[in-house]
Amino acid sequence: MSNSLFRKKSIEKIVKDAEAGLDDGHGHSGGLKKVLNVKDLTFMGIAAVVGAGIFSTIGKAAFDGGPGISLLFIITAVTCGFSALCYAEFASRVPIAGSAYTYAYVSFGEIIAWIIGWALILEYAIGNIVVAISWSGYFNNLLEGFGLHLPGWMITDPGSAKEAFTKAQETLNAGGALDKTMQFAYDTWNNAPVIAGKHIFLNIPAFIIVCLISALTYIGMKESKKMTNFLVIFKILVIIFVIIVGFFFVEPGNWNPFMPNDFGGVLKGVSAVFYAYIGFDAISTTAEECRNPQRDLPRGMIYSLVICTVLYILVAFVLTGMVNYSELNVSDPLAFVFERVGQNWIGYIVSVSAVVATTSVLLVFQLGQPRIWMSMSRDGLLPKAFGKVHPKYQTPWFSTIITGILVAVPSLFMRSSLMTDLTSIGTLFAFVLVSGGVLTLPRIANLTGNSTGKFKLPYINGKVIVPLLFVLFAFFSKDRIISSVQNLGSDNLQEILFVIFIVLAAVLSVLTFIRNYSLIPILGVLFCSYLLIEIPAVSWMYFLIWMAIGLSIYFLYGYRKSRLAKA
Ligand code: ALA
Repeated sequence: MSNSLFRKKSIEKIVKDAEAGLDDGHGHSGGLKKVLNVKDLTFMGIAAVVGAGIFSTIGKAAFDGGPGISLLFIITAVTCGFSALCYAEFASRVPIAGSAYTYAYVSFGEIIAWIIGWALILEYAIGNIVVAISWSGYFNNLLEGFGLHLPGWMITDPGSAKEAFTKAQETLNAGGALDKTMQFAYDTWNNAPVIAGKHIFLNIPAFIIVCLISALTYIGMKESKKMTNFLVIFKILVIIFVIIVGFFFVEPGNWNPFMPNDFGGVLKGVSAVFYAYIGFDAISTTAEECRNPQRDLPRGMIYSLVICTVLYILVAFVLTGMVNYSELNVSDPLAFVFERVGQNWIGYIVSVSAVVATTSVLLVFQLGQPRIWMSMSRDGLLPKAFGKVHPKYQTPWFSTIITGILVAVPSLFMRSSLMTDLTSIGTLFAFVLVSGGVLTLPRIANLTGNSTGKFKLPYINGKVIVPLLFVLFAFFSKDRIISSVQNLGSDNLQEILFVIFIVLAAVLSVLTFIRNYSLIPILGVLFCSYLLIEIPAVSWMYFLIWMAIGLSIYFLYGYRKSRLAKA
């Protein structure tokens, strides 16, 4: 059994399968349209990266960490950089649509591939629920600017509505007066339609935008590409404008203290900051629509990550320099800081740009999810329908519709905070395995002969550097290590995660010393694992439940239906 769980596909077989395509039931061969070049891919990377993270979640992170959050942006960029290089290596060798899922199938075998495919649903579909909710919030801001007011029950989810109403009611009961926000929450609750005794709240704009974007991705990649390029240019121009104008309003005193809540405060922002970087990897799902994927995909990923990193670090400095960090616990921090310094019109432009930015993230992720399912279906791990390609539009139409439903329906009533953590955990998990998978590649290249790609990850021997870094890390964290080990018996899951990380890092350091592992992938694994264990443990519990469901489906369906099993 264990052998069949880890059955692997050869790179040659994967490429051949993709070229052959699946019969779509209409006698169509199933190939996708090749329309993307390096510029489109870079744009698509930026389209996927710059969105709800930099426009929304950065606020809370800056509130917890202070100006030191810029440091977290740098650490996260370095982490993503290691992973991007590993993705690039894979993308160049395995130019197929499945992204990390396919890479894991090549390097670790079927069950790990399934686990990654299942985790990627968190990155793409669940991640897009967060983006849709953020889109709806900013879109509503815009409408308000034009004097248009949607009823409150149409722009919120039941959980948030209830919480806000309860808070307002408590204030009233305590004899207090309601401020504008609380009054709105109170009225929203009381004016909501009631069906069978239940107040109804639905985030209608979030639902509609997902339906529209899904329709676009159903029609075609070329149309989606044109739309993406336009959206990206607009949002990048606005962000550069924000950085330049913002610097004139910076008061250097706000950068002091740099880490008001120490490094622990900065680390609270891990999930939010990492979320802001997610997306550069999404372009690897479009491999089969690239004209020259082996050359262009690695470049597209790296260019987009570098551009976003520079912009993000500058934005972080501007944001924390314009106002005191303690004011930044808002959902629209970039618009807020300009309103705060009396520049409401810039705040309005930022809101327009946020709507544009989140639209483009939605677009790329709605493109990515169906293509991963398509690959999984080709391998027999999902039913054939998921791999069907539309005879006219040449897009994976069935998977596109299912993705649309999976994102649109929950965005009507879900809350976004937990979803952000789950998205970050799922993505980091994929990054760890992609980085680790690169270590297995030379062996595979030898086995399969001529799978030389056009991008080559530079080999730097990690023999000395990795153990040295581990010793340094252990030295500076010695207090935490001691207290975590002493408290292992208690149910502090966060510290258990920390101990697991230390053990993993120690084992990898020893292995690197013995086997001369390549430095970049090992650092990719270690950095991503570290960010992973800093995400709140409660979200980890949901993640583990999600994974248990995924594994059950695998054993009930994929394990038996896998094409490799039949072979
Ligand atoms: N990085 C993407 C965003 O911030 C997911 O919206």
